[in-house]
Amino acid sequence: MIDRRRILTRIVQSFSIIGAFFVSYPFIKSSSIFEKRYLELEVDLSDLSTDKTKRVSWLGRPVIIARRSRQEIAAIKESQEELKDPFSERSHQPDFAKNKKRSMRDDIFVAFGNCTHLGCIVKDSPDEVGTRFRCPCHESSFDGAGRVFRGALAPKNLEIPNYGFISKNILLLTVVK
Ligand code: FES
Repeated sequence: MIDRRRILTRIVQSFSIIGAFFVSYPFIKSSSIFEKRYLELEVDLSDLSTDKTKRVSWLGRPVIIARRSRQEIAAIKESQEELKDPFSERSHQPDFAKNKKRSMRDDIFVAFGNCTHLGCIVKDSPDEVGTRFRCPCHESSFDGAGRVFRGALAPKNLEIPNYGFISKNILLLTVVK
């Protein structure tokens, strides 16, 4: 009699556990989908032409994505005298961007759009030779690799987020896990 009761109790317990799992599964699944959606962002670059900049919002911050011309890439590789931190030794970026061009690919530059002085959002500066971005608040200027020029109030180069490419024209912004 005692054994039958014990077996019945075990069966009920097992069904309760299985039931609880099935009830909570949709919530677990939707929260992981939400987390993935929040932490990753795919950006289509097929409409981004040379010398243009695309802007998206990710993790509550503006991100700029610029397509560089051959001339701009050449200028980035040459210039350094007039820059505060030409090799980004004091700036924030993933390891793959700790170089002169500060990017995974030569033709695509990706950075957070906040100026490193007080966080204003930098604007494109298409008419100034050598300057790609300028801060509207206190005029700090940055080259095509987001490197800040000497004399600017911004202390560091623009911050680079972690990212990769799913295909030639699909960029994936993603946090480091
Ligand atoms: S916030 Fe950009 S220079 Fe001050």
